[in-house]
Amino acid sequence: MSKVQLASGPGPRGNPSRHPSSRGKHFLSDKVERFTESVIREMTRQAMLYGAVNLAQGFPDFSAPAEVKIAAQQAVAGDVNQYAITWGAKNLRNAIARQMGVWQGLTLDPEKEITVCCGSTEAMISTLLAVSNAGDEVIVFEPFYENYGPDAVLSGARPRFVKLRPPKDNGGEWTFDEKELRRAFDKHTKAIILNTPNNPTGKVFTRAELELIRDLCLEFDVLAITDEIYEHILYDGTEHISMAALDGMRERTVTINGMSKTYSVTGWRVGWAVAPEKITNAIRKVHDFLTVGAPAPLQEAGAAALGLSPEYYAKLAEGYRARRDHLMPALTAAGFKCFRPRGAYYVMTDISAFGFKDDVSFAKHLVRDIGVATVPGSSFYNDPRDGAQQVRFAFCKKPETLDEAARRLTRLRRH
Ligand SMILES: Cc1ncc(COP(=O)(O)O)c(C=O)c1O
Repeated sequence: MSKVQLASGPGPRGNPSRHPSSRGKHFLSDKVERFTESVIREMTRQAMLYGAVNLAQGFPDFSAPAEVKIAAQQAVAGDVNQYAITWGAKNLRNAIARQMGVWQGLTLDPEKEITVCCGSTEAMISTLLAVSNAGDEVIVFEPFYENYGPDAVLSGARPRFVKLRPPKDNGGEWTFDEKELRRAFDKHTKAIILNTPNNPTGKVFTRAELELIRDLCLEFDVLAITDEIYEHILYDGTEHISMAALDGMRERTVTINGMSKTYSVTGWRVGWAVAPEKITNAIRKVHDFLTVGAPAPLQEAGAAALGLSPEYYAKLAEGYRARRDHLMPALTAAGFKCFRPRGAYYVMTDISAFGFKDDVSFAKHLVRDIGVATVPGSSFYNDPRDGAQQVRFAFCKKPETLDEAARRLTRLRRH
């Protein structure tokens, strides 16, 4: 499981090889021994192995918008084939600044406050490497998108987890305890990572919740790093609010976003970090030496994508609403208790009805014997026991893919 060991000492060491040339040498870093490979990506490999319907990893199995694909083709044909400016092609940075103005009312300087990266994944790790020192703590709500744990370890920070608690009834919301959150803030806290709309819970943080977090950030002089990659995937009248748009937060927020989810191009690897100039300079330095830059022609396509009409975004959200409402009844009928998502494209479920000792054995049964791949809940928690009766389904799939999964799930037996 993608588990992060929080002990700061060296990780477990294997037996030294008996080969004389490597006797006594240990070639791996201590950091890398403190976490494992991604469970989510491993489940995709298992899905391929067993010919299962992949409702594990969050990538669409349908086409990206034609205009965006044409823009990429034109960029390649027009010889946009060399390095872009390391912190991002001007057209894309201008488009990001323009759209953050339209959507969040923020005025940005595209020359000084935006760094385009290889996906929001790189934007997050570059940000953490740019701001963290050994001994710094980073608050993370859990369950959390599994990258955040290893990101914290790689950057030398120590993650500190605050629980999101599932709703008691089907229509309720995931919530956190205000006192528990306050206790997590202290003089070692450098940053809080926030992901709204949230993976895996589907929670969309409310204005009141964000203001509470804002007040704590101001009181304890803490940076907010917000992953807003699902900002356009919202249901049931919920509203996405950027932390950077709240009073007092513009100067202490890094907003992370990307093309992957909004334009169904997870393989293109284009994302970005928006931050005040001083922090942007630091992120740009890390980014430059990590990857130099994101794919140049696809950045041009990104500029075109950000110019799509408001109808595109409304249709995107409506399409995912229909998929959510397609999959959830099938899951409920099969015996899962679903926690209704208000945003993003995942549904967390409770699997207690099936009588399995843990989520991993259940997920293995599901992928091998039933033919549906999911992500075991434990991969979203620091303590695997917290997710031992949960699995997550992704519904960013064609209706026929969801139908096939639903058909296979009827073979599941409750105990
Ligand atoms: C919350 C969250 N952030 C980031 C990512 C990865 O985004 P990107 O493809 O831009 O690296 C994902 C993908 O599942 C995600 O769920």
